[in-house]
Order: sequence, then structure tokens, then C-alpha cells
Amino acid sequence: MAMVISIANQKGGVGKTTLTMNLGHALAAMEKRVLLVDIDPQFNLTFGLIGMEVLNYEGNNVGTIMTRESSVEETIVEVKENLHLIPSHLNLSAKEIEIINAYNRERRLEKALTPILPDYDYVLIDNPPSMGIFLVNSLTASDYVLIPLELSYFGVIGMQLMFNLMRMIREETNENLKLLGLIPNKFTRQTKVPKTRLKELKEAYPDAPILTTIPKAIALEKAQGMGLSIFEFEGGGRAAKAFSKLAREVVELVEE
Ligand SMILES: Nc1ncnc2c1ncn2[C@@H]1O[C@H](COP(=O)(O)OP(=O)(O)O)[C@@H](O)[C@H]1O
Ligand SMILES: [Mg+2]
Repeated sequence: MAMVISIANQKGGVGKTTLTMNLGHALAAMEKRVLLVDIDPQFNLTFGLIGMEVLNYEGNNVGTIMTRESSVEETIVEVKENLHLIPSHLNLSAKEIEIINAYNRERRLEKALTPILPDYDYVLIDNPPSMGIFLVNSLTASDYVLIPLELSYFGVIGMQLMFNLMRMIREETNENLKLLGLIPNKFTRQTKVPKTRLKELKEAYPDAPILTTIPKAIALEKAQGMGLSIFEFEGGGRAAKAFSKLAREVVELVEE
């Protein structure tokens, strides 16, 4: 039975899509059966994985499974062995109003995913940088949350917003939602700032597990631009090593 993990942070540009893509590849390489779900109307993950093919999925995407216009089975795209995708689409933002007005609007994704959970070990959901109905659906459907963040002043104080939202979700729709951990991203030793912020982060949220730190690496940006995972782009590099380590850590925490 799949463990469902939301990759979330209401802030944009912190590495949600990069993390979903590379953690997905790393888990698939460990022979885990992985389903990636792109619930961001900006469809960066979908574009990274299947490119212009995204245009072919107007009738079969994460939005149409939530409105029940397509079944989840007919919406899954095989990216490679052990790595499947439920794509996002240009028309996803137009579905938002329809979903907000639908019955059981917070549980549309959870309900759609239920039939295929036995087919996977991990479902990773890439979220938009906003706190709307898509993120609420995603957290309602999830067992765990992974939060990538940048070690900047606003990156650290912004965590409070995510924690507040998680508390609300636990009270209203999903009492079992757990924080799997925070993932400091774009870490650099060129200045002392990130290290100081990491210390502040630990002090401010002593109960939040802090997982493997991902270094700032131009290779990650280049790989994403080419639609490749870091393993395909530069398998031996330090960013790839960090993602492999993170994947092992996630497996250990989730499967213990
Ligand atoms: N560790 C990193 N080092 C360098 N660039 C990164 C790193 N993580 C993400 N990026 C780049 O930062 C930008 C934003 O990342 P992305 O994953 O799209 O963020 P989000 O999905 O949270 O908006 C992208 O251009 C991406 O390639
Ligand atoms: Mg993104």
C-alpha cells in the first residue's frame, strides 16, 4: 500500500518540483514503485517529465480525476519503469472553481487516488505555491508532508504558515497527517547566513525533523531545464549524492 507524501511550501521557487522529480527518480532506482502527482497549475513537473506531450492530456489529468471526468487508471502516464505520473495541464486553474463548488471538495484527490494505492509504494504530490483548494486536497490525501525551504530570513519564518495549515488539516480533514521533515535546499557555505538560519530553524521548531540538506548546485538547474533528473544529468555529482541519501532517509523513516 502506497505511502502518500505531499511536497509542500506556500513559497515559490524553494525546490518543490526539483525535490519531487529527483526524489521520485531516486526511489524508483531503489526499485520502489513510484507515482508522481502534479497538482500545480503551472505544470513544471509534468513539463519536465514529458515535455510538450503535456498538451495531449486535456481530458486526462489531475484536474479531470478530481472532477470525475476521467478515471485515475486511464490518467496515469508511464515515464519509465517504476516511475509513473498523473500529469497537470494548462486547464487546471480553470477547474479550481468547479472543484470549490463540488460536493466533498477537500476529498476529491484522496477519493480519486484510493483505487490505485495498492499498486505503488510511494505517491509523491508536487504542490502549487499557494494555500488554495489544491494544496488542501493534497494534504487531505497524504500520510506525510515534506517541506523544502531556503535558509533565508523569510524562508525560515514562513514555516509558521505551513505548520498552521497542517494543524487546520489535522483538525478538519486528516487527523493522521504527519510532518516527515524539513529539507534545507540550495545550501551554500559561501556565506555564513545559511548556517546561522539553520541554527535558528532548529531553535524555532525543535520538534520538526530536519532531513538531508541539498546543496546549491547549478547542475540541478541545468538538469531541470533539460527535463532530466540529476541522476541522468550528473549521476556522480554532489547533488545526486544528496538526493540518494535523502531517498534512503525517507525510506528508513517511512518503512521503519
Ligand atoms: N539545490 C538547488 N541548487 C540550484 N538550483 C536549484 C536547487 N533547487 C532548485 N533549484 C532551482 O530553483 C528554481 C526553483 O525550483 P523549483 O523546484 O521549481 O521550485 P518550486 O517548485 O518550489 O517553485 C528552479 O530553477 C530550480 O532548477
Ligand atoms: Mg514547482
